[in-house]
Amino acid sequence: MKTMNTLVLFDSMGGNTQKVAERIQQVAQSNDIDSTLIRLEEGLVLDFYEYDLVFAGSPVIEWLPTKKMMDFLKKKLKDYRLSGDIPSTAIPLRPGKFAVCFSTNCGAHIGVDEASPMTEWVASFFGHIGYQVLDKIHVPGEMRNFGQGSDWMDEQVFESLNTQGKYGNIKGRPNEKDLAKLETHIKQILDSLTPTSG
Ligand SMILES: Cc1cc2nc3c(=O)[nH]c(=O)nc-3n(C[C@H](O)[C@H](O)[C@H](O)COP(=O)(O)O)c2cc1C
Repeated sequence: MKTMNTLVLFDSMGGNTQKVAERIQQVAQSNDIDSTLIRLEEGLVLDFYEYDLVFAGSPVIEWLPTKKMMDFLKKKLKDYRLSGDIPSTAIPLRPGKFAVCFSTNCGAHIGVDEASPMTEWVASFFGHIGYQVLDKIHVPGEMRNFGQGSDWMDEQVFESLNTQGKYGNIKGRPNEKDLAKLETHIKQILDSLTPTSG
């Protein structure tokens, strides 16, 4: 039987999504699954079709993935079209190709509904290249200022977003409890794709 090959692709500005990506990678490896962890950087060369199961994640930025992630995925779609890997009309599912989308978000205003557009966006990309999307995973992540400047939001606003939002107090999240829950979730997904005999 062919062994499954997994990719964990992520973008992260402050490290929250990176923590989630790294835990997914650890779970795959401890399940003896060949897995590659890649942080999205400018100029990344990557062929999704080399992987049977792709985990793709990003922080939620204004309800969507980072611009870097969206630009990368749009370019990949264009490249696959131009190379004839996907038709220009209805896209057939590719047997044995699966994707899972994941996000971290602060959800201060409307909780997980702020993250769903992001994972739906990424899921739609994978649908367009013939992957069956198995799941969309959302993990709370503390909001920090990543170079938007001190005039973007003052410390008090950050404090209230992180302590009085829809998810409650999310300081320090994703924390070990979030990652342990994630671990169980990922293991279930992997087990469903690699059933053990007997
Ligand atoms: C510029 C900016 C915009 C953001 N927009 C949203 C948003 O629309 N909804 C949300 O729930 N969180 C939003 N967040 C919070 C981040 O998604 C969250 O803190 C995430 O865990 C950061 O992940 P990272 O550490 O991997 O970069 C925003 C954060 C920044 C810096």
